[in-house]
Amino acid sequence: MCGIVAYIGERKAYPILIKGLQRLEYRGYDSAGVALVNGSINSYKRMGKVKDLEEFVGDSSTDGTIGIGHTRWATHGEPNDTNAHPHTSMNGKFTLVHNGIIENYAHLKKELVNRGYDFKSETDTEVLVNFIENIYLEQKVDAELAVRVALSKVVGAYGLVISCADEKDKLIAARKGSPLVIGVGQNEYFLGSDASPIIEYTDQVIYMNDEDVAILTKEDLVLKNIQNDAQKPKIQKVELTIDEIDKGDYEHYMLKEIYEQPTSIMDTIRGRITMDKSKIFLGGINDEMQKLTTAKRIIIVACGTSWHAGMVGEYLFEEFARVPVEVEYASEFRYRNPVINSDDVLIAISQSGETADTLAAIKMAKEQGATIIGICNVVGSSIPRETHAGVYTHAGVEIGVASTKAFTSQVTALMMMAFTIGQKRGSLYDELYKQLINELTLVPEKIKTILEKTADIKDIASLYKDANNALYLGRGYLFPVALEGALKLKEISYIHAEGYPAAEMKHGPIALIDENMPVFVVATKDKSYEKIVSNIQEVKARNGKVIAVVTEGDTTIKKMADHVIEVPDCHEAIAPLLTVIPLQIISYHIAVLRGCDVDQPRNLAKSVTVE
Ligand code: AGP
Ligand code: GLU
Repeated sequence: MCGIVAYIGERKAYPILIKGLQRLEYRGYDSAGVALVNGSINSYKRMGKVKDLEEFVGDSSTDGTIGIGHTRWATHGEPNDTNAHPHTSMNGKFTLVHNGIIENYAHLKKELVNRGYDFKSETDTEVLVNFIENIYLEQKVDAELAVRVALSKVVGAYGLVISCADEKDKLIAARKGSPLVIGVGQNEYFLGSDASPIIEYTDQVIYMNDEDVAILTKEDLVLKNIQNDAQKPKIQKVELTIDEIDKGDYEHYMLKEIYEQPTSIMDTIRGRITMDKSKIFLGGINDEMQKLTTAKRIIIVACGTSWHAGMVGEYLFEEFARVPVEVEYASEFRYRNPVINSDDVLIAISQSGETADTLAAIKMAKEQGATIIGICNVVGSSIPRETHAGVYTHAGVEIGVASTKAFTSQVTALMMMAFTIGQKRGSLYDELYKQLINELTLVPEKIKTILEKTADIKDIASLYKDANNALYLGRGYLFPVALEGALKLKEISYIHAEGYPAAEMKHGPIALIDENMPVFVVATKDKSYEKIVSNIQEVKARNGKVIAVVTEGDTTIKKMADHVIEVPDCHEAIAPLLTVIPLQIISYHIAVLRGCDVDQPRNLAKSVTVE
């Protein structure tokens, strides 16, 4: 979703805010703004990127050692200067930056209009800041109490930081459903939607919990909840480092993260497979292993790319652990009133750990007695804090909006879970168990050989950069890979792309095939290989262009496809980790050749913390 940065201390706030917003920009970026406290509160906000804000600020006064900043991903009111944050209340008492959605904003706005308030923007955030001011003025309370009273009447999600013109020596922060991290310095405090704007100043952080309210001055931090109960700040050391969040020599974060996959997969595996490659040990789910090995059903909930990883998980758990699996879009699952039993295990997959729909689905299933397991990449994020147990993917921070290394790390974690549970349930015999473990440990080196083919893949991409549509086909374990390849292409190049089970083509989609339709087919050697060869022939018979991802040495498909990209041989259950790499690279180069903003595609945000 959007990004929030704040600072209170002895340093000049403005550069800290701007650099912090640039680090958070991947989270949401249709407009940006800052407010600086220095005698008065000076606000600057602008549609566009953080660099547009900097140009707008120019030589204006940026003094002040207290400030708040925001990059927006619009939910109420189009992206423009007026709707950008910070928002200041009508009488100038409060200035606020907010991440999330105030769901009862319309009701509150109506009440405020009746009390004489008028509004400049279309946002729910401006309603919130005026609501706080109205309580402050009418009930004659201090800023903190006005904030707590207002938030007790608000329905929705927020991560916010607010400054009061009558109490300029403090900032008040609050969170419910949208993340906020406090950085603890020496006589200074930092706030961020995640740790990335904070880590160059301090590695001591406090992850705020839902309903926490923090009152910050240069000297002090008071943490309480909305009900005014004191909360004990839990200071943790954050592991993130600066070079993890810099692009280095890469043109885009997405390319860096594609190339990081040999390392990120090794990091996902690290410490979880014995040196002799005979056993997997997942400490994070060990306490719930009994539930996992006796589960009558596994429900996987996720969104987007994580949902595609879940689809691979379905094939893995059903084949090796022989347990029924259903994979659900979190947004559908949570509203469908599903049947959930206490012997169900629900696995939530989320890179950010903040996706609102996935979080809501977890809470619902947990209330109905299911065991909740998380597969997340961001330590301390909201989803892991709601689970009974879980596996962190340790892929490192993923900044490109299009998820790449998170996907392969999620699939790696699912493989280790499925193999472990299958072995414990006795449905995966030891010899195959050890073969799969060994194959998994060979993946990083095999991915390196695929990455060496980037120049050839780029040549293929250049032939299809002007396509208006594309189809992605796969069968079995490779069907979710086809879905993922299609999502990558559409979300960064804006070409319409669809993933399909290859056999489905004859039930309608084959009508789409002509010489203008590129068809990417994931067709490495597996039990349905002969079938997908036939599917390729059906496409070629209608003049479709076929770009096939094949097993090294495949001569059959090479004769019929327009282009082939070879990947090393492996067990079919391991193939998703290898076959997705060429599709990531193709979508990246097509997007670059089309001049698209690869790391910050239009309309998207890295973490969707609103419903
Ligand atoms: C993937 O490329 C997209 N950025 C998006 O679909 C993403 O996977 C989805 O929003 C889920 O995010 P999460 O993994 O952080 O929950
Ligand atoms: N709902 C608020 C708005 O639309 C905040 C959106 C965000 O999280 O950036 O301005």
